[in-house]
Amino acid sequence: MAWPIPICKAPATAFLSALLIICSNVNGHDSMREAENYPPLWDNVPNSLAGFVTIHNKTVINPWNYLERMGMYKILLSVTAKYMESFGPRNTGNVLWGLPLQHGWQFNTGRLADPSDATSCGQQTGDPLCISTTSWWSCMNYYLATIPFLGAVEAGFFDEWPFEIEMSPPEEHVDDFCYNTRDCHVLIPDTMAKWTNFFQLLKKTRDISQSRLLPSISPEKDNVWRHIWIAHVSSIEAALPKFSERLTYISAPEAQFGVSWGSAVEFIAAAHFPTNFNQTNVFQVYLPQRMLLAHDKAPSIPDLSKKENWALVALDILYEGNKVTDGGLLKFWRRAMCSERGREEGRNLLENIVSNPDLILPGMRKILVEFIKNYNCSITDA
Ligand SMILES: *[C@@H]1O[C@H](CO)[C@@H](O)[C@H](O)[C@H]1NC(C)=O
Ligand SMILES: *[C@@H]1O[C@H](CO)[C@@H](O)[C@H](O)[C@H]1NC(C)=O
Ligand SMILES: *[C@@H]1O[C@H](CO)[C@@H](O)[C@H](O)[C@H]1NC(C)=O
Repeated sequence: MAWPIPICKAPATAFLSALLIICSNVNGHDSMREAENYPPLWDNVPNSLAGFVTIHNKTVINPWNYLERMGMYKILLSVTAKYMESFGPRNTGNVLWGLPLQHGWQFNTGRLADPSDATSCGQQTGDPLCISTTSWWSCMNYYLATIPFLGAVEAGFFDEWPFEIEMSPPEEHVDDFCYNTRDCHVLIPDTMAKWTNFFQLLKKTRDISQSRLLPSISPEKDNVWRHIWIAHVSSIEAALPKFSERLTYISAPEAQFGVSWGSAVEFIAAAHFPTNFNQTNVFQVYLPQRMLLAHDKAPSIPDLSKKENWALVALDILYEGNKVTDGGLLKFWRRAMCSERGREEGRNLLENIVSNPDLILPGMRKILVEFIKNYNCSITDA
């Protein structure tokens, strides 16, 4: 397959090529899905701790059931709503929305089911709400659902709840996960501390001033986004090595997509991208709406949309570009994103990929300028 521009040695060029390929091939005026997309079965998801079983003074959440795992997100959205009022009306600006919407996409596209076919977990013919411990996606997501939730528990969001809160362990692979705040501090101390820190920060952040949502973000809001992204990236980095063996159950293209998506999230994170309700829904139409099969080869997968096909190609280029440069591409991007000005350009660029291809090239030039301007930036966070 011939690319319009070869992948070059310089990280910047590889990244720019990736974007060029997207912008030259995606029709930015494709009909955009309605942004009113709540996660599947949202109305059946519990929205308070009273929706879970409490026995022997212990409230037990089963994170291996879609409704219950999603319930943790719904509860988090609800208890944090009062800190998010200035982020957007009706809690649509809540910084946590990216997580449940991603999880809903995983559920909708069959990614939480048992890929080994050894059980009917998650299959329509078996228990469709079952979340499988052999699914790479579901294991990765555990660290982005349970750990944030327990971080909020630790930060005191449920102090008035009279019972202890615990996750029920799966039947297999018990050692891969943790089930309460104490155990999680032992299993993944750093990630647990980062999520707890994020929720503590929310409680301390008052008076978050009104500002335009995009592209400018006020310093107080930027700080909230910074901390949720630090915790988010930490979850991915902690989970990736633990679950690499789960990749063997899925097709090679699906495994490649999963890993490159995980890597792309680090680029999105560095821009402090506001994955609120509307933005996440706009971006999610780019993710493949079914699991990839062994013979699938983007950009010519017939039953996936043009957007989905090219997003797969771009993710692949981004991943490979970062790999051949030994992480140089991400370092380049992070330095450009080191200043608020740089992040603003980064977010603009990510936005324009979706909606305004004509502005992509000038956007890339601005990123390069910000990279150069940030010569003395020391990168301390993710
Ligand atoms: C639950 O807690 C209450 C109040 O602390 C106590 O009286 C009761 O015995 C406990 N029940 C069980 C089953 O541990
Ligand atoms: C999301 O979109 C709705 C409908 O267009 C709008 O009312 C709301 O302000 C948007 N929320 C954010 C955070 O931008
Ligand atoms: C980088 O340099 C600029 C101007 O020379 C200075 O204002 C800024 O404080 C420096 N930043 C760091 C992190 O050293």
